Amino acid sequence: MGNEKWWKEIVVYQIYPRSFQDSNGDGIGDLKGIFSRLDYLKDLGIGAIWLSPVCKSPQDDNGYDISDYQDIDPMFGSLEDMELLIQEAGKRDIRIIMDLVLNHSSDEHPWFKEARKSKDNPYHDYYVWRDGVEGTPPNDLGSTFGGSAWEWVPELGQYYLHLFSVKQPDLNWENPKVRQEIYDMIQWWMDKGVGGFRLDVIDLIGKEPDLKITGNGPNLRKYMRELSKETFQKGDLLTVGETWGATPESAKLYSNPDGSELSMVFQFEHISLDEQQGKGKWDLQPLDLLQLKKVLSKWQTELKGEAWNSLFWNNHDLPRIVSRWGNDGEYRVESAKMLATLLHGMQGTPYVYQGEELGMTNVRYDIEEYRDIELLNLYKERIGQGYSKEDVMESIYAKGRDNARTPMQWDTSENAGFTEGKPWILVNPNYTEINAEESMNNPNSIYQYYKTLIQLRKEHEVIIYGDYELLYPEDTNLFAYTRTLGGTKLLVLCNFYGKIVPFQIPREFAGDKRLLISNYSDGVSENALRPYEARMYLLG
Ligand code: NOJ
Repeated sequence: MGNEKWWKEIVVYQIYPRSFQDSNGDGIGDLKGIFSRLDYLKDLGIGAIWLSPVCKSPQDDNGYDISDYQDIDPMFGSLEDMELLIQEAGKRDIRIIMDLVLNHSSDEHPWFKEARKSKDNPYHDYYVWRDGVEGTPPNDLGSTFGGSAWEWVPELGQYYLHLFSVKQPDLNWENPKVRQEIYDMIQWWMDKGVGGFRLDVIDLIGKEPDLKITGNGPNLRKYMRELSKETFQKGDLLTVGETWGATPESAKLYSNPDGSELSMVFQFEHISLDEQQGKGKWDLQPLDLLQLKKVLSKWQTELKGEAWNSLFWNNHDLPRIVSRWGNDGEYRVESAKMLATLLHGMQGTPYVYQGEELGMTNVRYDIEEYRDIELLNLYKERIGQGYSKEDVMESIYAKGRDNARTPMQWDTSENAGFTEGKPWILVNPNYTEINAEESMNNPNSIYQYYKTLIQLRKEHEVIIYGDYELLYPEDTNLFAYTRTLGGTKLLVLCNFYGKIVPFQIPREFAGDKRLLISNYSDGVSENALRPYEARMYLLG
């Protein structure tokens, strides 16, 4: 084959540090907390941890606003803690993937503090400025977190660009000095032994704000190639770009097997299927299974041999998948396992977001209990526009980012074993039933199921490298496909809903087959798939 890579063969686990494990009672997760849970992650079988940002930050956007790229925020620990974490994880064959936020910094970064001092300050050109007059921004570009993307600085008579919050000014990638600072910083982390990087909203760096082009801008390829050449290509790293606007065509450039850019990207086409077209994530519509099959299958077949998929349902920006496209009531366990089977059976590197392996669910809190800047801005904005509180809250319950950010549920002790202090955000009250301790002791738990899926990946090359083919594209209940590698075939059958579906395995798969995993432990029926039933067979 010749195309094998370590980062294709592992499963990555994402940690959102502030919500994973607190070690000092301040109510916020930290590096020592992660350290204390490494054996849990080793038991699960993962090969890398993607750590959401832990660098110094005023935490306006929970660390995605960095004020020092080469230091750790005291809230999370110290640089020594980080070095120890890299080492100790390494001893367990777990690599640390850092989150690189390169599109913007914090407004409290020394570069920006200098930049706003005067137009002729050497750092001024590290950011994106436009002359103007107060009240009339250069254009109507909007910030992802609401309002204009331009902020007025009266002392300078200029606006600066911030595609996210006002405290996240966009870096000026056109300036070669900025790019060089970034490369030096990345090299510094590489020297510390990190296993790779996740690149935050990296498809925005080639922007052309005057033309209102943000994603996939004209300079994107040039910057990606230079970035990769000057840094990543000097190591053997997993690099994954967050690219909301990626298409299979652009993914083939980002993830070209020649290694000129990244290992892979996160594409979000499937994730946007339950929002009204042309609106945004807050305007909900039911998921159409046929569309989901179409989109995921398109990515599977189009990237074959030409790029590599990342496989995910969840991250720190998305609602919990079991609440979203599964069933977090009666069939929580079955549906969480079904969704895991569906994803881990595909070609690509699977990502598990903390708590997904426990089947953690969304929450419904009073507005005062939420913490996320995006969600709180949305609430203010929509109430101001005359939406009913009920409507806005339904959107927040369904899509709010805090769904993913409630503390990890470790056990039944107070605050779910997350902290001995007051957690920075409320723990989901269902922790008394849904927690790691219960899951580790229960042979039929979602945790054990994930563990088996991860183990199967290590045992069967077909799961990693096999070619994908969708079965029954028009079936409105079943998501089924095969994977083929040489003479070996994998058959994945998933009943996507809570109804019994009459089903017989087609004759072409009638020969010798071994059931590798299934989410019902009492055998399989010849004639039906039960609610959310999932099976993975090895044929031949
Ligand atoms: C994407 C990150 O995943 C999200 O959490 C953050 O708010 C934005 N980028 C801005 O950095």
